[in-house]
Amino acid sequence: MAAPRIPLIVDVDTGIDDSLALLYLLASPEAELIGITCTAGNVNARQVAINNLAWLELCNAPEVEVALGAEVPIITALMTTEETHGPQGIGYAELPAPTRRLSARHAIEVWIDNARRRPSEITGLITGPLTNLALAVKLEPELPRLLKRIVVMGGAFNHPGNTTPTTEWNIAVDPDAAKIVFDAFSELPDDRRPVICALDVTERIELHPHHVAELARVAGSTPDEVLHPDDEPGTRSTASNRVIRHLSDAVRFYMEFHRRYDQGYLAHLHDPFAAAVALDPGLATLRPATVDVELAGTLTRGQTVADWRGMWGRRPNADIVVDTDPDEFFRRTIERVGALARSLN
Ligand code: RIB
Ligand code: CA
Repeated sequence: MAAPRIPLIVDVDTGIDDSLALLYLLASPEAELIGITCTAGNVNARQVAINNLAWLELCNAPEVEVALGAEVPIITALMTTEETHGPQGIGYAELPAPTRRLSARHAIEVWIDNARRRPSEITGLITGPLTNLALAVKLEPELPRLLKRIVVMGGAFNHPGNTTPTTEWNIAVDPDAAKIVFDAFSELPDDRRPVICALDVTERIELHPHHVAELARVAGSTPDEVLHPDDEPGTRSTASNRVIRHLSDAVRFYMEFHRRYDQGYLAHLHDPFAAAVALDPGLATLRPATVDVELAGTLTRGQTVADWRGMWGRRPNADIVVDTDPDEFFRRTIERVGALARSLN
């Protein structure tokens, strides 16, 4: 008996970990990818769109609408981070240029039209800045009630930021959008509160070289895929399997970045974890809180603040992931993405 399918709209700033989140979803039979909407973040929005079209084509994925969205944040000037994700946003990977075409629709239209056509069915997964969703709820105030639920990779609560001492990247790029979204999704039933995957837990999702080696073995790729800290930076994979080859080139860049910032030769898989939670919230331990975003702080603009104990007298408006089993996440990821890659040998 096949698991019931889960209709998803995914809003991304692809990005190396956004790429792995897409592979995870493509490798998950229960995921029904309705649309991929692209926003500026790790790299510019048009490059984000190209990256998604290219990964879809590489994986012979079924047709799915890829739409361009906001190319700049609502108020803040755009910042991108090629240092973290590479000049094209996919590390050292050089994907074949896609022949698939971008949707003629804007990302906001994709969100609103699909939510109206399939009320209370669609899960929104956001792994980039919240600009598109913020603009969509401004245009359609009913959107929070038309969607089944949203899962957001973003924020840092009892945990240091990765962009400023108090802010996480997706929120820091567009804090005004984040506040619009958290406010707009504040009056929902408890079982439909946004699920937030913040750095507190996503920085425990550490991809190590042995995970890549295991993935390659499951994919039947040869030779063994060995990423070693002593490799020459920028070494390219010779994996026989094209998904493994490009995935390895992407994550190698990410591991070199994490090492440069004394985090070790590893890569935090923020977005694939959020994707796995979107498909199975049972993977996460959730705790309700009232979340708001600091917009006026000179040092803290973009900080996500959680009121766990009702001090503000406001209803909880989010379920924050407070724990998970990283080994179970990697078991699923290696099993699923390895099988997807093997099917494309
Ligand atoms: O802070 C991590 C998040 O910011 C991830 O989604 C990464 O892709 C970047 O968008
Ligand atoms: Ca991202």
